[in-house]
Amino acid sequence: MTTNHGEGNRRTPGVDPGHLTVFDTTLRDGEQSPGISLDAAEKLEIAEQLARVGVDYIEAGFPVASQGDFEAVQSIARSVGNQPDAPAICGLSRTHMADVDRCWEALRDSAQARIHVFISTSPQHMEHMLKMTQAQVISETRSGVSRAREHTDDVEFSPQDATRTPLDFMLEVLSAAVDAGATTLNIPDTVGYGIPWDFGALIQHIRRQVPGDYILSTHCHNDLGLATANTLAGVQAGARQVEVCVNGLGERAGNAALEEVVMALRIRPDQFPGVTTTVHTEELARASRLVARLTGYPVQYNKAVVGRNAFAHESGIHQHGVLADRSTYEIIDAASVGQVGRQIVLGKHSGRHAFADTLAKMGIHAQGDALNAAFARFKELADRKVEITEADVEAIVAEELGQDLVEGFQLESLEVSGGTVGMPRARVVLSRTGDKLEAAAEGNGMIDAACSAIRQATRVQSKLIGFNVSSVTGGVDALGDVVVQLEADELKVSGRGVSTDVVEASARAYLAAVNRLVRIRARNERREVEIGP
Ligand code: KIV
Ligand code: ZN
Repeated sequence: MTTNHGEGNRRTPGVDPGHLTVFDTTLRDGEQSPGISLDAAEKLEIAEQLARVGVDYIEAGFPVASQGDFEAVQSIARSVGNQPDAPAICGLSRTHMADVDRCWEALRDSAQARIHVFISTSPQHMEHMLKMTQAQVISETRSGVSRAREHTDDVEFSPQDATRTPLDFMLEVLSAAVDAGATTLNIPDTVGYGIPWDFGALIQHIRRQVPGDYILSTHCHNDLGLATANTLAGVQAGARQVEVCVNGLGERAGNAALEEVVMALRIRPDQFPGVTTTVHTEELARASRLVARLTGYPVQYNKAVVGRNAFAHESGIHQHGVLADRSTYEIIDAASVGQVGRQIVLGKHSGRHAFADTLAKMGIHAQGDALNAAFARFKELADRKVEITEADVEAIVAEELGQDLVEGFQLESLEVSGGTVGMPRARVVLSRTGDKLEAAAEGNGMIDAACSAIRQATRVQSKLIGFNVSSVTGGVDALGDVVVQLEADELKVSGRGVSTDVVEASARAYLAAVNRLVRIRARNERREVEIGP
């Protein structure tokens, strides 16, 4: 078996006691949010942005869950995992030998790789899911962690549902994991049951009672809205790794939000003396937008740090104060988290080369058909919109790069008519692998008519279960940003579309969701293994 990555690993326990390891699990726990299904290319795009953010670890997936998960982890390990100053890439695994080996198979080409082994330890999980005794769980812990250590010297262990696990038993399991070679002990508050002072006390207790050379980690879910608070309490009590997701995504109510935890540490160093991260905070807003766009989960307006209202001031007194000095009502500088609409110097006369160059400066690398399609959309936008911001360019480029340009349906044209008199109608022309597909339909409104026409042209049946419109930036000519969620055969998918015209944005979003449905069906990529509640 291969062993890797001992030397030069800045994440080795004890090297820098103040360094807080930021472990991002957007692509694993975040992807388990209901209705999110990212394909390998989208996961790679998010992983590249996480590398720009400067997280220490990217948990890229659960390789044994499906072939799609395996391939996505492998492709991230091979590309992002080998960039200079890259984050280490992690994969999740149950304790079974076959799972651990499969996980390593996906990770092995990364310059630094970690296997994250977990098993449930609470009575609820052991009785109803695992059907194992305490002795069996301890033995599984030993064998799973030892197997992982045969592959790599960077092994994390998690006792799932730790906060509902009897303390003595958890200490026994954790000690067994350390004996078997775990270098990080992660304490998951799987069902979001923790309360900050209680969770902090738990972390402190584990630190004192479990001997060995390991890093303690937090993994807090947000069922009571306390995920960030619990995570910070864990850090205060000595945890030196935080598991977080962009925009607080994750199972049910989500996980602790990357941007909230990092900014709390940045703004209040007095509360966390000597604790530092390597996060480039100016990349946080962009990570948030990218994840929102690709997952189809919009960011709530009043979300801390990355919400559109996080730096907006409505009342006269507040506006007066902020105009005099921003510090009157703002504790975070918007620019420090990338929350300012950077104006880009491209216009309708800009050429393809200048466009590609600008994208490269934004860290987006597009080539060939994808670049051509994105450039065509940019030209269309430049004709309709006076000021183009980085957020606008990101939105159209992400939409185009998210399409499967070879096999997906493409929108060639859309014509709609409607108003207060007469039946709204739409006519669409689509193309797919060189074929033209046309259909016309009526509907309750122009958007409904456009979606019906697309349904007829593609012959893909599904139920519309979600529809959300927002704007990318402010102003009357702002891009409308539409997210559509569809359901078919128990599969839920989302699609996103942007345009200065909301009907067109809706049609694009609907088509993007249809394309995703077709792709997932083609790969028949359903999860074969579940992680738990
Ligand atoms: O919430 C949880 O318990 C998890 C584990 C797999 C770490 O996500
Ligand atoms: Zn979790």
